[in-house]
Amino acid sequence: MSGDWEVDFVSPSMRATHDSPRPAYLLRAHFVLEELGLCMPDIARARVYATAHGLYELDLNGEPIGDDRLAPGWTSYRHRLRYQTYDVTTQLQEGGNVIGAWLGDGWYRGHIGFDGGVWDNYGTDVSLLLQLEITTTDGRNLVVPLSGKWEWQLSPILAAGLYEGEAYDATLYDDQWCRSRNAQGWTPAVTIPLDSFNARIEAPTAPPVREIETIAPVTIEEIPGGRIRLDFGQNISGRLRIRPQGSVGDVIRLHHAEVIEEGHLGTRPLRAATSIDTYRCAGVPGEEWSPRFTIHGFRYAELEGWPGGPQTVDVEAVVLHTDMPRTGWFESSHDGLNQLHSNVVWSMRDNFVDLPTDCPQRDERMGWTGDIQVFASTALYLYGAHGTLTGWLRDLAAEQWDDGHVPNFVPWVECGFPNFPTAAWGDAAVIVPWEMYLHDGDTRVLTEQYDSMRGWVDLVDRLTGHSGLWNSGFQLGDWLDPAAPPESPGDSQTDRYLVATAYHVKTARILARTARLLNKVTDANRYQHIADRAAAAFRAEFITPTGRVVSDTAASLAIALVFDLFDDADTAARAGRRLLELVEHSGYRITTGFVGTPIICDALVLAGDPDAAYRLLLQDRLPSWLYPVSMGATTIWERWDSMLPDGSINPGDMTSFNHYALGAVADFLHRSVAGLASAAPGWKKIRFQPHPGGGLTYTHARHESPQGTTSISWQREGTAFTLQLDVPPGAEGIVILPGADEQIRVAPGHHTFHSTFRDPADDPLQPPATQRRQRENA
Ligand code: BGC
Repeated sequence: MSGDWEVDFVSPSMRATHDSPRPAYLLRAHFVLEELGLCMPDIARARVYATAHGLYELDLNGEPIGDDRLAPGWTSYRHRLRYQTYDVTTQLQEGGNVIGAWLGDGWYRGHIGFDGGVWDNYGTDVSLLLQLEITTTDGRNLVVPLSGKWEWQLSPILAAGLYEGEAYDATLYDDQWCRSRNAQGWTPAVTIPLDSFNARIEAPTAPPVREIETIAPVTIEEIPGGRIRLDFGQNISGRLRIRPQGSVGDVIRLHHAEVIEEGHLGTRPLRAATSIDTYRCAGVPGEEWSPRFTIHGFRYAELEGWPGGPQTVDVEAVVLHTDMPRTGWFESSHDGLNQLHSNVVWSMRDNFVDLPTDCPQRDERMGWTGDIQVFASTALYLYGAHGTLTGWLRDLAAEQWDDGHVPNFVPWVECGFPNFPTAAWGDAAVIVPWEMYLHDGDTRVLTEQYDSMRGWVDLVDRLTGHSGLWNSGFQLGDWLDPAAPPESPGDSQTDRYLVATAYHVKTARILARTARLLNKVTDANRYQHIADRAAAAFRAEFITPTGRVVSDTAASLAIALVFDLFDDADTAARAGRRLLELVEHSGYRITTGFVGTPIICDALVLAGDPDAAYRLLLQDRLPSWLYPVSMGATTIWERWDSMLPDGSINPGDMTSFNHYALGAVADFLHRSVAGLASAAPGWKKIRFQPHPGGGLTYTHARHESPQGTTSISWQREGTAFTLQLDVPPGAEGIVILPGADEQIRVAPGHHTFHSTFRDPADDPLQPPATQRRQRENA
């Protein structure tokens, strides 16, 4: 698209001078249709193409253009900048027109990153690129000449930072700024030539960030000190919309936090993201405000200086994220599991704010590769996330080093975090496109990402000295193992190089399959060889002949089982038994971290004991998935004990209440508990294989697959088991009933099956499977 641009960037001639939130600007240009030889009936279509260095929102003749928020979003601005397209045909008017923009710092020039973070990461000038094109009824196309017409002034946004919040003075707002050509206080804008930037200007691959819904407070209470506290009942990414009935000059401060600790907003986990908005009232009737250029992660808000008492509060929370279509659902007879699933959905929503981030609240919100690597399959089941991931993968490839190194977060921000190749994080370069292919059945993403995928696997192959064993250098390993001290989340019980080598096998295998699919036969053989060599190295280093796995942790056994790293079925079966022992020994509490947790239930099913998976899944004592649920969580926490049982916040510096990674277990709920899984790329073949148990009497899962809607429901009354399913047109179904080996083929349509199933959970005296087996063997 860069070639189609006939305009340059325009900028307020104000550089960033201080490292604290800066003001936002207004830019505007005036044009008269008749001076272009046009009148309204001649206009078939008018479109604005726009983007910015910074964040922007547009107005035309006093009305907002489009409903995008935080546009143009965050990409690797040095390589890629997305433009937006808006139809403004009906917003033009006879005679004079004014087009205007609000322009703020955002990711381009504002504060980003952690450990102090950085300012002006991409540049010191914010600027707008805007082209207005008119197509006439007789087929002519013309670009409205705005060059030299742009002027700017400071906006009523006195300061705005994504982390810090926004300060707005409504007494400074002139509602005529984008309606009439009142020349006072405006300065000509500076032109910055388009060709002074190298980045590609591209169309977006995904829907924009929008206001998705609004939530009314569940409780409103005045607290000691005079603030008014609002609880929205749901942890979200977004901001408040307020309607105060104040007097001119009243100042209201809005504080945000995810949790309450000892009667106060728990703001410590926010670190440098202070998340405070300030509003100075104009004192006019119908006053309403919501910030533009900031976003917060919060469930609670406190209003300081609100004019009037709690009874006059007119405030709602506005949920903001990428406007993806919902595609996946799950429900069951177990309230705790339903809440867990809802928490996963919300953590995905709150962290798909233009790119897949780790968390929406603290001074981070980065595109951490490992987080989306473990969550990609869940994400693609729940939402149409393909577009967002396509764009993000382009950035990943753009930021990948020449030697294949993948930064630990994308876009990369130099803020002190070690930038070394890291297993499970860098592997996102291979696993995310592969998961997309598996879900969509479309090889284009593999073609587009192929060089990036190859770059990563080749790098790791070199790092192993072509031995297959990745046993040196920085690793995050099974990050956040619950046994690791709060201040050293990387100190997992599982050997970090075991994790690294296992991932090397996994991604080399995927690459071999990718090469085969893309008809790259030589590559396919080469990567198969690398994978086989790494698998052999893994076995030699980490697996004993009797099926023990070095580290002897649930994570290492689960990895070896799920990544299919055993030589033969007997060793795998022995390892499965050991896994069951360990899980039972832990009292069915979580002992795995970032890498082990998403696959532990699958490993238990592979080990032949879904009952053990249920015991783990339905556990609510720490550490477990349902402990946060029992503590009232509405999103997935970063740590199992982000909030300790006494209600205090985990002392670790890294404690978020909204990280989706540990929610990757939702994939197991869909695939195994309900039993709805894709069995061939693009859901062309669907496996309906429920694993009832855990005392559940009902589950339902539904997915809008590329072949159409597919769903499964099972119900159990005593031992009578009923299964109902829908196979979409174009797909083929395979049904495997509980306890059966037989695969029943089913055609598109609705099907019902009846069988019997005895749930071990119905018998409270039933010992865990390992003890049962020991007894049977005795
Ligand atoms: C992030 C994580 C990330 C990790 C890796 C954290 O600060 O929030 O989700 O993957 O760092 O170091």
